[in-house]
Order: sequence, then structure tokens, then C-alpha cells
Amino acid sequence: MEVGIQRKKVGGAGLITLHSPRSIATNHYKMLFSKVDRICRREKKKVIAVTSSVKGEGKTTTVSNLAVVGAKNFGERTLLIDGDFNNPSVPQQFELPSGQGLVDVFEGTCQLGEVIQKTSIENLAILHVGHISQARRDKNIWATKQMAEAIEEMRGWFDYIWIDAPPILPLFDMNVISQLVDGMLLVVQAGKIPKAVMLQSLKSIDSRKFIGSVFNRSKISWPQKNYSHHYKY
Ligand SMILES: Nc1ncnc2c1ncn2[C@@H]1O[C@H](COP(=O)(O)OP(=O)(O)OP(=O)(O)O)[C@@H](O)[C@H]1O
Ligand SMILES: [Mg+2]
Repeated sequence: MEVGIQRKKVGGAGLITLHSPRSIATNHYKMLFSKVDRICRREKKKVIAVTSSVKGEGKTTTVSNLAVVGAKNFGERTLLIDGDFNNPSVPQQFELPSGQGLVDVFEGTCQLGEVIQKTSIENLAILHVGHISQARRDKNIWATKQMAEAIEEMRGWFDYIWIDAPPILPLFDMNVISQLVDGMLLVVQAGKIPKAVMLQSLKSIDSRKFIGSVFNRSKISWPQKNYSHHYKY
């Protein structure tokens, strides 16, 4: 499959794996990718959604850096889908103009292959939300047949498909995403939400799909304390 026309140059302060490839943080993302990769290979998973209990816990940062290391360091043909339809943040993370995306395909104005953007990072492509109307926003795009068909089609084109998913709270129905993906990671920002809320979020994720949680922004005293991670599987 030939996607996009031109490679789009990407950047962004949050892409530490790109701009500081030898940092401790990048090593943590590589270790995280390796752990997830081991599970995915064993369980034949390739479509992975990254969510969190509430907004702002680090979903976009985590999924973007995992996609970068998977593509750049591990050579996996990787697609990152901006799936947080109410709050698309992948373009900003990668310093890309938003442009056409999934919704434009659903509107029939273009083909899937045309809106998947190749990037300047070898093996990494990005799929934007596209020009989303309020009417579309009000529907749950994740629950549409078009979304299911698009994911099925793209499975054959990539080794990994990462999805920057919406947060579970206030009221996102994780079942609809669960049905479309093979695995889910839960990003948990240290000290942000009460444990009971986090446990409630875990309950809303189908246990057969749950890969693990990423403990983000912990104050564990690594030599470089920002971007430190602690993983629990
Ligand atoms: N490990 C980290 N170390 C330092 N800063 C981080 C880390 N992870 C995320 N951040 C910062 O926290 C803020 C929120 O992160 P991010 O946008 O990735 O969260 P999000 O869950 O995608 O948010 P939203 O729900 O609004 O889309 C950003 O300013 C990001 O740079
Ligand atoms: Mg986000």
C-alpha cells in the first residue's frame, strides 16, 4: 500500500524520543515498547489504544513516543491514529498541520490511503481526525461501522497501529473501542486521581484486552526525574 504523497517533517517538544534519542527518558520508552511488544507478539496484538482515567494524564505523550520508538528504533511499520475526536492533539504533538483525516474518508471526500500521512520518521505514518463537524462529534464515531471497517482495512498495512484514545471519564464507553482494538494501555499520572477512580477505570476496560498500565510522571528519583516511568504488568 502506498500511503500519503510526501513525507511530512515532524518535531515537537514532547517527542523526547525524537529530539533526545540518548536520554534516560528515551530509554524508558524503549523499555516500555519492548515490554508491550513482547506481550503483543505472544498474544498476536497489533492495534493498541492508549487511554487514561481523566484528561491530561499523558496519553498523547506516551502513545506518540511509543509510536516513534517502535518505528524508528525497532523498525516496525507504524501508524498513529488521532482517536481523541473531541480533543485531537496529535497534530500539535508532532507540529503538523491538521489537514484531512478519518472523518473526510467517512464523508466520502477521499480515500483512506490518501489521508494517511507519511512522516520524516522512517516507518511512521499518522492519521488525523480530519474536518470534524459538530454533528459527527455528537455521534460516537468509535461506534460506527465505518470506523470498524477502516481499522480492519489498515490492519493489513502496518505492524502496529497505535490509537490516541479519549479518556474514560467523564463518560466514555470503552466497550466500543475495546471491540475494535486488540489491546489497551492505561496511562496513570502519579498523584493525579484517587486510587478508587483508577480502579473504577480499570474495571471499565475489558480484561482480555488490557495489556498494562503506564505510571507516568512519577517522582521516583531517577537521575533525570521528568519523563520517568514505572511500569506494572
Ligand atoms: N512523562 C512526562 N513528563 C513530563 N511531562 C509530561 C509527561 N507526560 C506528559 N507530560 C505533559 O503533561 C501534559 C499533558 O500530557 P498529554 O497531552 O500527553 O496528556 P493527554 O492525556 O493526552 O491530555 P488530553 O486528555 O488533554 O489529550 C503535557 O503538557 C505534556 O507535555
Ligand atoms: Mg491528548
